[in-house]
Amino acid sequence: MRYAVLYTSQTGNTRALAERIFHALPGEYTDLCDIADLMQIPRADCYFIGFPVHNHSCDREIRLLLSQLHDAQIAVFASCGLEPTQYYKSQIERIMLDWLPGSCRYRGMFLCQGKTTELYRTKVLQLIHRDAEQIKAVFNTGISHPDRSDLRSASAFVTSVVR
Ligand SMILES: Cc1cc2nc3c(=O)[nH]c(=O)nc-3n(C[C@H](O)[C@H](O)[C@H](O)COP(=O)(O)O)c2cc1C
Repeated sequence: MRYAVLYTSQTGNTRALAERIFHALPGEYTDLCDIADLMQIPRADCYFIGFPVHNHSCDREIRLLLSQLHDAQIAVFASCGLEPTQYYKSQIERIMLDWLPGSCRYRGMFLCQGKTTELYRTKVLQLIHRDAEQIKAVFNTGISHPDRSDLRSASAFVTSVVR
């Protein structure tokens, strides 16, 4: 089985997940690549695609990448600044899955919290009109993420996909 871990990451949170996922994968035929450095999509039977959540979704480059995959298994991982609830994950998944060709078999998503930039925090707090204290508390929790527990959960996610 050939695996490829392809990801984007602006501030390193998703990269940390990508590296952990890469090391948790079995076999020697495994690629790890930042999409920014990708000349062409490596051939694989199973892709782990990672991204930071932006505007409650994934960026265009990820949508484009997903739309170009065929006849492969696809697992997704992401980090987000807001609370990584099951509900939030399913919303992100719903939008993202629109881009996946029918010939691909979707294997699930891993989502955890990641620390955010001051700019993003300020923007969110300017836009919201209620629950500011609650959201500030979520951002404060995020400062230490992804943490060791998140990385362990990312490994467990790999195990659940590859078994
Ligand atoms: C422009 C921008 C938009 C973002 N939008 C969201 C969002 O909609 N929901 C969310 O939970 N986090 C959002 N975030 C926070 C990032 O998803 C979070 O910090 C993530 O862990 C960053 O991952 P990275 O270090 O791999 O870039 C946003 C961050 C930026 C910079």
